[in-house]
Amino acid sequence: MKLFESIEIGGIQVKNRIVMAPMTSHYSRNGLVTERMIHFYQERARGGVGLVTVEDGIVDYPLGKNTDNPLAADHDRCIPGLTRLSQAIKKEGAKAMLQLSHAGRRAGYLSSRTMHLTRTGGRLPVAPSPLAHPSPGHVVPRPLSVNEIDDIVKSFGQAARRTVEAGFDMIGLHCAHMYLLGQFLSPWANKRKDAYGGDLESRLKIVLDIIKRINDEVGPDYPIVCRMNGQEPEEGNTAEELRYIAKVLESHGVAALHVSVGFGNILWGKNFIPAEATMGMPEGCIVHLAENIKQAVSIPVIAVNKIRHVDFAERVLQENRADMIALGRPLLADPYWVKKAQQGRWDEIRPCVSCCQGCVGNIEKGRPITCLVNPILGREKTDRIRPVKAKQTKRILVLGGGPAGLEASIVASQRGHRVMLWEKKMDLGGRLKIAAKPPWKTELSEFMAFLHQQAVNEGVQIVLNRAADVDAVQLENPDVVVVATGSRPHIPEFAVKSNGLLKTVEEILNDGAAALGDSAVIIGGGLVGLETAHYLLERGKTVTIIEMQDTMGQEMPAITRIPLLLQLGEKGAQLIVQAYASELTPNAVKIEVKGEEKLISADFVVLCTGDEADPELAAELSGYGIPVHVIGDCRQPGDMLAAVRQGFMVGRVM
Ligand SMILES: Cc1cc2nc3c(=O)[nH]c(=O)nc-3n(C[C@H](O)[C@H](O)[C@H](O)COP(=O)(O)O)c2cc1C
Ligand code: SF4
Repeated sequence: MKLFESIEIGGIQVKNRIVMAPMTSHYSRNGLVTERMIHFYQERARGGVGLVTVEDGIVDYPLGKNTDNPLAADHDRCIPGLTRLSQAIKKEGAKAMLQLSHAGRRAGYLSSRTMHLTRTGGRLPVAPSPLAHPSPGHVVPRPLSVNEIDDIVKSFGQAARRTVEAGFDMIGLHCAHMYLLGQFLSPWANKRKDAYGGDLESRLKIVLDIIKRINDEVGPDYPIVCRMNGQEPEEGNTAEELRYIAKVLESHGVAALHVSVGFGNILWGKNFIPAEATMGMPEGCIVHLAENIKQAVSIPVIAVNKIRHVDFAERVLQENRADMIALGRPLLADPYWVKKAQQGRWDEIRPCVSCCQGCVGNIEKGRPITCLVNPILGREKTDRIRPVKAKQTKRILVLGGGPAGLEASIVASQRGHRVMLWEKKMDLGGRLKIAAKPPWKTELSEFMAFLHQQAVNEGVQIVLNRAADVDAVQLENPDVVVVATGSRPHIPEFAVKSNGLLKTVEEILNDGAAALGDSAVIIGGGLVGLETAHYLLERGKTVTIIEMQDTMGQEMPAITRIPLLLQLGEKGAQLIVQAYASELTPNAVKIEVKGEEKLISADFVVLCTGDEADPELAAELSGYGIPVHVIGDCRQPGDMLAAVRQGFMVGRVM
């Protein structure tokens, strides 16, 4: 396969055509490399990737910070940690690159909680022009003077020197995603009239000055890989101008181009694709942008963004649309993507489902990244991929075939236990199956299929249509029982007597809405409420959503929340916040909004106010002296990421 052919970048031989895309992990501490970070990257290198790009190293800390806790490359004290990191990556046979970056105006994020510019330590952010980044919460930056631009050019040069001293094979230059260098390149953000703004030549000047400065610092033969946007907002560079930029970069010695997209979670309304394409967007949705750049240059061009499947990645290369493929989230989901692909074990690749829940979502909250489908992400040292064999083989009975129960079964089987799984329904999946029903959610069923297949491969004995009670479990006589039987809907007091108006989410998403009337009221505007609304709107219903908080979808990352809210608005949903439902009448819901009572007529009402744990079976079994573990929704409803993690942990300790 072409994916596994070697390729040369600026005189450096890379063993295959797969690049790990740069991803801020929040595993660094005060900008410095940590052991956790080293293990995270080393595991991906061990997994077979040809070139590992280490996340944004900020050249001017804290003024250039892109998030709350990025990696720094601004001081010589960074060198020892970076050296250990590059060595760990290279030890596994991969080449290592560090991406150098400055966030410019995107560092100017005012925390709504503290009303403080947390990223820059209270300093005004800098940019080519005094224009705030249009995402909510960004302040107007201070335009850079020519002397300050010169200082920034020097900072990039010094950071490049540190990169080389730390043993990295290549230097990555972040000109994409509308960070500082992207801002200078684009007339969308650069309104200067001096030598650094105006025509394209002038907008390119800072990047070319930096390339020259890097060459002066580390020598002309050291490969520089530029990441650039392949698409800009309407007032930005056109596709033709972007091709021109690529050509100029090549003529100034850039060794490869990595074509990404995105402006910082904005402009969805205009159908722009975000840097991290979400569920429902097609596979390889920006490969055409890499293709556009490839037409202009002869250096290697790297394509990225939602390239998840081996055959798709191979096809992009075979069709000559790009020279290399970068994987970001797919390598968070499965660090061994490359090895498994090469060995033909495609069905063993843990599929990234593009949910952005644990990765982008945690970066937004300032937390270290986690992953919905990979319970080990960020714990590569402590939690082994293949858990060590158990000292004593046990007979384990897992009750419930949702994500938690399946994950526990797989891990327990891998450790040598004999595992039987009972599922009371005719098919597996539990809440995961239901969660995959709304529009834009189909990727979730790939995770479901993966878990099922893995359980079969590991020899888990799956019994469907088998409800559990104490007698049946005692008859089976297992050594340990894992209860993963899920939760039950929480019915608030006002809804107990519902006159048949009330439906559960499960009833609705199992095609239960077809026979109902046209108008629906959804109580609860969290993730489940919004997605159920989307499902109903697609089926021609009119929908009103009632939410107690002052925003809808509060627990969702902006990258998925904003497009969903825009879509619901476009399809005519009525969203009412700060509202309490107080009564169900035979054909309406009585609500209270800001002290005022209102009646919202409804043919049916869907309750999306959350579930409650269902611990009775577990308590009963424990009463009979059977060792029991309770996991998933059954223990704490609502968090699939936690459920998968609990399944993994239980499988690991039994
Ligand atoms: C958690 C996370 C952090 C990211 N941080 C960076 C970054 O530091 N620099 C960068 O250029 N891109 C960053 N990206 C974008 C990725 O490099 C990549 O372009 C994007 O995730 C799409 O590729 P994928 O679908 O293979 O994940 C980040 C993405 C994620 C998910
Ligand atoms: S959290 Fe979701 S999008 Fe992020 S890597 Fe995991 S599966 Fe992919």
